[in-house]
Amino acid sequence: MQLSRRVSSIQPSPTLALNAKADALRAQGVDIINFGAGQPDFPTPEHICQAAIKAINDGFTRYTPVPGTPELKQAIVDKFKRDNGLDYTTDQVMVNVGGKHSSYLIMQAVIDQGDEVIVPAPFWVSYPPMVILAGGKPVIVPTKLEDGFKLNLADLEAAVTDKTKAIFLNSPSNPTGSVYSAEELRPLVEFCAAKEILMISDEMYEPILFDGRSFTSTAAISPAAYEWTMTLNGVSKAYAMTGWRIGYMGGPVDIIKACSKIQSQSTSNPTSIAQKAAEEALNGPQEIVVEMNQSFERRRDLIMELIGELPQVSCYRPEGSFYAFPSFAAYYGKKAGDKVIGGSQDLADYLLEEASVAAVPGIAFGEDACIRFSFAISDAEIQKGMHQVREALAKLA
Ligand SMILES: Cc1ncc(COP(=O)(O)O)c(C=O)c1O
Repeated sequence: MQLSRRVSSIQPSPTLALNAKADALRAQGVDIINFGAGQPDFPTPEHICQAAIKAINDGFTRYTPVPGTPELKQAIVDKFKRDNGLDYTTDQVMVNVGGKHSSYLIMQAVIDQGDEVIVPAPFWVSYPPMVILAGGKPVIVPTKLEDGFKLNLADLEAAVTDKTKAIFLNSPSNPTGSVYSAEELRPLVEFCAAKEILMISDEMYEPILFDGRSFTSTAAISPAAYEWTMTLNGVSKAYAMTGWRIGYMGGPVDIIKACSKIQSQSTSNPTSIAQKAAEEALNGPQEIVVEMNQSFERRRDLIMELIGELPQVSCYRPEGSFYAFPSFAAYYGKKAGDKVIGGSQDLADYLLEEASVAAVPGIAFGEDACIRFSFAISDAEIQKGMHQVREALAKLA
């Protein structure tokens, strides 16, 4: 069977592939420490699970309206107002099958053949393939560790052409952990709004913030920003609900309507039961979010201390999310036996074999100098894993 050119032009998600590899090694009895996971290691809170069980018992098991149940959409409107100061109506929000699906739908809804979408690097692995699947061209704009991996206005201006249609911005960031302040966002979003470039603001890790930082939504920067921003969020990371597959977004009505049309012809609606659980997550007690954040902050401190003990490794101190993205460039060119470590893929393969540590090579995120370590694992695993990394690095000659 000749597969489509579209599907042949992308690779499977490298983060999910690494997890599958780590799981397979574990199944063979290898004691792998998995720094690859992009999900909280906590269970979904009990009151949220109970809401789903109640939905089943109540027979809430049929199709729902395409963009989500009215009750969940109202909970999303209330959340955007309460946490982000954003005034959206229920027509301006929709529920999707996970946060990943929100970005996918937007690409399908706004991108035509040849349109350009700016993707600052390091980027979340799924942005460029989603642009390609929609017929667009990802325009990768590198950022530097010294700048906190944040995009600046000059680099943005230089990347824009008359074909630029949209830009992805992800804060708190997967994979770098950097967080844009309101002052850093303002020039970027005002420039985009003036050029009529859609800002796709992926705020999936919003509540995971360290050192007492506060969060500003891109759309809240100004009326023009509000008009030209799609605000993406979800329950996966905030409430330890990755398997429930509920994401949501808010933005201009015409884009929401277009995304809803595509959803109506593809997934119909997100799972009815999971929508009831998400409603409880957003409306229910929020203490659990604060508690998880405290754990992530403690683990951030721990992993940064251990990364600091690795010779010749530098790392931006994560301000949010649960990822550290240290640079191992000083080790490239060294040898393991007679094999030269050429880049992040070779080093990640070496760490898996030699240190039994799974971590995602930075090349997957558009930055080959680095490797991504998720610290959404136990303190004991972080300690043991980083110790094994240190020993493995010392063997490279
Ligand atoms: C930056 C970012 N956006 C969106 C998502 C998607 O989340 P979901 O699991 O809800 O599809 C992820 C998941 O890893 C992510 O890291």
